[in-house]
Amino acid sequence: MKKTGLFYSFNTNKTSQAARKIGEEFGDAAVHVNAETLTEQEFLAYDNMILGVPTWFDGELPNYWDEFVPAIEDLDLKGKTAAVFGNGNQKGYPENFVDGIGIMANLLESRGARLVGFTSSKGYQFESSQALRGEQFSGLALDFENQASQINTKIKKWVEQLKKEFE
Ligand SMILES: Cc1cc2nc3c(=O)[nH]c(=O)nc-3n(C[C@H](O)[C@H](O)[C@H](O)COP(=O)(O)O)c2cc1C
Repeated sequence: MKKTGLFYSFNTNKTSQAARKIGEEFGDAAVHVNAETLTEQEFLAYDNMILGVPTWFDGELPNYWDEFVPAIEDLDLKGKTAAVFGNGNQKGYPENFVDGIGIMANLLESRGARLVGFTSSKGYQFESSQALRGEQFSGLALDFENQASQINTKIKKWVEQLKKEFE
């Protein structure tokens, strides 16, 4: 498998927990990169990219990702394979559940990345989400607030999927 970068904010609690688990499942073959201090050069150093994108502010990206969006908008991501995971709260924010996954997934794809890691939206209860594509999410949706006991199983399954979908 080509080099895999795992991009997320090291300052988060829940996203970091999920990222550590994802890293473990990859057998530490993924390099952890802090999204808070990310440069374009660091971002482009990996052929396989996993991005941790929680949703904040009623359907928006957290500040550290929002600040990196203009950089991504100028990048050519052809040849890259990308997957997005993201935390959200389906009971608290049913109209914007894991929107951040969709916002980031669409952006990466618009810059030429091949998007992988789609998952079923069955088993979640919400009204709308920018991460939805038909019946699937354009990434892995994690809800620590309402479905904490499912997180580890979901991550395990997702990483097995990514190992097949990454090059
Ligand atoms: C102010 C605030 C706004 C939020 N907005 C959303 C939202 O629009 N959609 C959603 O699915 N979750 C939303 N959440 C839930 C967070 O995404 C969830 O708590 C997540 O686990 C935070 O991850 P982090 O602590 O790693 O940043 C919000 C949480 C807070 C505190």
